[in-house]
Amino acid sequence: MFFDYSEVRHIHLEVSEVCNAACPMCARFIGRGSRPNPEVTHSVIDLQYFKIIFPPEFVKQLRFINFCGVVGDPITAKELIDELKYLVECNPNINFEISTNGGVRSQSWWRELAQICNSDKRFVSFSIDGLEDTNHLYRRNVQWHKLMENVKAFIQAGGYAKWQFLIFKHNEHQQDEVKKLAKDLEFQECNFKLTNRFVKNNDTISMPVENIENTKKLLELEETIIKKSSPPPGVLFMSTPLDKSQATTVPTNFKYNVSDLKTKKSTHTLEPASDFKPKEFTVEQLENATIECSVWKKHEIYITAKGEIVPCCYLGGRTGRVIQVDESYKKIVEKVQGFDNLVVTESRSIKDILESSYFRDIIESWKIKKIEDGRISTCAEKCGLNNRVIHNKVKI
Ligand SMILES: C[S@@+](CC[C@H](N)C(=O)[O-])C[C@H]1O[C@@H](n2cnc3c(N)ncnc32)[C@H](O)[C@@H]1O
Ligand code: SF4
Ligand code: SF4
Repeated sequence: MFFDYSEVRHIHLEVSEVCNAACPMCARFIGRGSRPNPEVTHSVIDLQYFKIIFPPEFVKQLRFINFCGVVGDPITAKELIDELKYLVECNPNINFEISTNGGVRSQSWWRELAQICNSDKRFVSFSIDGLEDTNHLYRRNVQWHKLMENVKAFIQAGGYAKWQFLIFKHNEHQQDEVKKLAKDLEFQECNFKLTNRFVKNNDTISMPVENIENTKKLLELEETIIKKSSPPPGVLFMSTPLDKSQATTVPTNFKYNVSDLKTKKSTHTLEPASDFKPKEFTVEQLENATIECSVWKKHEIYITAKGEIVPCCYLGGRTGRVIQVDESYKKIVEKVQGFDNLVVTESRSIKDILESSYFRDIIESWKIKKIEDGRISTCAEKCGLNNRVIHNKVKI
């Protein structure tokens, strides 16, 4: 049966909504990278809440947790290492992957992480899209020297590392050099992937000067909020420094005031790689496709940093961009009166949410042919047979 609690084996987990970086095409931003996503509230799953989401009996049935997400970076979660230790204590056979831009935390923190992430079953994937002169063009705010310090500390302490490279026009010429550096640094793997987030070949995204003007403004705003607030437990906020001692908390309902963060157009533009081929769908293709849920094939569910239980990162929770555009999905969420009712609490477990009308309606929607009758176009686009987008993958 689809989304049966006892059959869940994989989790895609967004343990934090916080990120030190500002990648223009990330869902942290809306308006084609021009403005912060107002739904991003800096929620972080702390150890106490982690144990509520993942009681020991549930951890025992799991095989793999992908610490990744849609709008945050897992290494910003204050208690990440304690959470990993808790998982291993409950289930010594559990495996995990941590996907990160690698730009923060101390070397000693990375060495500690290496003690846990030290095999091809428990590893870190570093998202590094270029070399010293290019990585920051997409991974805005990530400082190369800090990143390299962290990577070296992790690998030299026995950490198992993979390099994930997103190919753009500005870094496509560096693939051979990257493979060489990855080998020299003793990465175990190096994978290259074309981004599917441009809509056409000659698409360009102008990059706001987020990392200069706006970051300053954002940090000032955040500091004011920190000073004013007496935060509840469970939510962590960090601006730039990301060691436990420097972490501060803010209320969960903190939202950016978008009008305070208007962005300036920059002369930089982000362009797709030369061999990028956009994938566009006609309504007919979306309505004729047979939907095969790719996450349930792995018996996987997605958990957001707000604790929402949803099937996958494609549909996502309230920070996802799809909810703005996919009417059928919106209606299913409205029927359960919003994402608040999909959040795990002490009295509402993952099992309760998987058994709610939200999941039943999503499953039912796969049989509906017409989008206007309730077919979720995102499901047809992402998991319609023949519609799947294949990415380049090369290993060293
Ligand atoms: C939102 S990030 C969360 C994990 C972590 N912060 C990171 O960036 O690795 C999830 C994934 O989206 C990927 N991503 C970011 N921008 C992308 C883009 N333009 N196209 C495709 N994937 C992208 C990241 O590389 C990462 O693998
Ligand atoms: S590092 Fe990951 S979460 Fe952070 S902005 Fe980039 S893609 Fe988004
Ligand atoms: S988009 Fe729909 S069909 Fe695809 S993984 Fe998500 S829920 Fe399943």
